[in-house]
Amino acid sequence: MSEPRTVVVLAAGEGKRMRSTLPKVLHPLLGRTLLGHVLHATGSLGAQRQIVVVGHGAEQVTAYLAETAPSAEAVLQADQRGTGHAVRTALDAFPDVTGTVIVVGGDTPMLRSATLTAMVDAHEQAGTIATVLTARVDDPFGLGRIVRDEQGRVAAIVEHRDATPEQLAINEVNTSVYAFDATALRDALGKLTAANDQGEEYLTDVLELLVSTGRPVAAHPLSDAEEGLGANDRAQLAGLAARLRDRINTDLMRSGVSMLDPATTWIDVTVRIEPDATIEPNTQLRGATSVAAGALVGPDTTLTNVVVGAGAQVIRTHGSDSVIGAGANVGPFAYLRPGTDLADSGKIGTFVETKNARIGQGSKVPHLTYVGDATIGRDVNIGAGTIFVNYDGVHKHQTTVEDGVFVGCDTTLVAPVTVRAGAYIAAGSSINEDVPSGALGIARARQRNIDGWVERKRAGTKGAKAAAAADTEAAERAARLAAASLATADLAVDNAAGEAIAVTEMAERDASER
Ligand code: UD1
Ligand code: CA
Repeated sequence: MSEPRTVVVLAAGEGKRMRSTLPKVLHPLLGRTLLGHVLHATGSLGAQRQIVVVGHGAEQVTAYLAETAPSAEAVLQADQRGTGHAVRTALDAFPDVTGTVIVVGGDTPMLRSATLTAMVDAHEQAGTIATVLTARVDDPFGLGRIVRDEQGRVAAIVEHRDATPEQLAINEVNTSVYAFDATALRDALGKLTAANDQGEEYLTDVLELLVSTGRPVAAHPLSDAEEGLGANDRAQLAGLAARLRDRINTDLMRSGVSMLDPATTWIDVTVRIEPDATIEPNTQLRGATSVAAGALVGPDTTLTNVVVGAGAQVIRTHGSDSVIGAGANVGPFAYLRPGTDLADSGKIGTFVETKNARIGQGSKVPHLTYVGDATIGRDVNIGAGTIFVNYDGVHKHQTTVEDGVFVGCDTTLVAPVTVRAGAYIAAGSSINEDVPSGALGIARARQRNIDGWVERKRAGTKGAKAAAAADTEAAERAARLAAASLATADLAVDNAAGEAIAVTEMAERDASER
């Protein structure tokens, strides 16, 4: 690349129609803000500078940039006097900028890096002083029209509200993406007036000014007009989300990911999925989530920043900031809170909630359990209804369960507590002291049965009747059994006699054959 490049992103506008306290460019769309998408696309241009013009919500936008795009430089446009004024403000802040200036609106999140690169390369190779990215659309309402001369060369951009009826019929529109020669741009910006319907300095007027210098100005038409779409209100934003979802899902399916219902599968642009993974319907994968080959995720699953290992199954699960090992099983109806780390071949089953929990290889937490602030070793079985009691009302405490432990159902493990390797915990125990290796920990009241209590104390209730019926039935059964065992005894005597006769007959036959 011979020319130094500078990117200017316009993000000072209010975005009134969003009706939001959040600046429009910070609204989220499948894994990034609108501005984040734009900066990601321009990031591949190899620019020396990425300048973001901020104004409305400047503090929020600047804070966002500091956190997610620290190399971008915010320039304040205190009064929003138009797109031309915005670019002028940016260039005034950096008087040393030369080469190519790429201008992009902050609200066009569908732009592809490859498209921008192709446009800027063509601009530089052709030696044009301005190139505008254009789109042919069915409904150009509200957008700037690309006016061409008899030879088909770009002559001007006319805003919708300033256009003649003939110009309104043009369906080639301005996407607000441009490449300019820095010096020519600076010159033209200095000549802009606000003599238009809105009384603003329009960047679009720069095109006509540059055409009048006689040097070449070009249009770069989008092959996929969708890339030029912006969002002015939340309905349009939802429309963009659906399109971006389709784009992401199509790319993933082409790369080998199975998807049963792409229309209900919402995957952030930041998510990575390997071939031969399957994503079931109604699933949302967000942030830094990744899914390895052969894994099955969904249906009805939402994962944010979750690493899913090869061949794992994650069904009807809500999870964030967690790791699911290869071949592991999660759900249905599991809730993985931050810090869950399920090792290979482990299981987190139905109605199980986990938080800050390391669960070792092959260990199983199958049903109705809370595991918080715990380290569980390998090949451990946690019985149904076990609660890791981690909170004393003030502090959180840690529980350790070593390899090979078997925890019976309905156990509470009152932290801090350690269950050593190979120990067993009796069902229904409340364990608040360490259990030595290989021991049985049992901590529950001894059972006492008070015979006949229901018939005495709850006479006439359904229970008493059932108990009485059971007593009668038991008595009858005992009588029948007694009678039957008498008969069986008789039969046994008969059989014994019969066998004796047969044996005698055989002996006689043997003797006669000899
Ligand atoms: C602009 C273009 C129009 C094009 C359309 C594509 C102009 C005059 N018109 O119209 O030809 O078809 O985009 O979406 O450029 N901004 C600032 N400071 C300002 C004004 C705007 O930073 O003083 C920013 C906005 O935040 C936004 C971008 O510039 O990101 C475009 O501004 P907007 O008001 O949305 O322009 P449109 O009317 O959509
Ligand atoms: Ca209990």
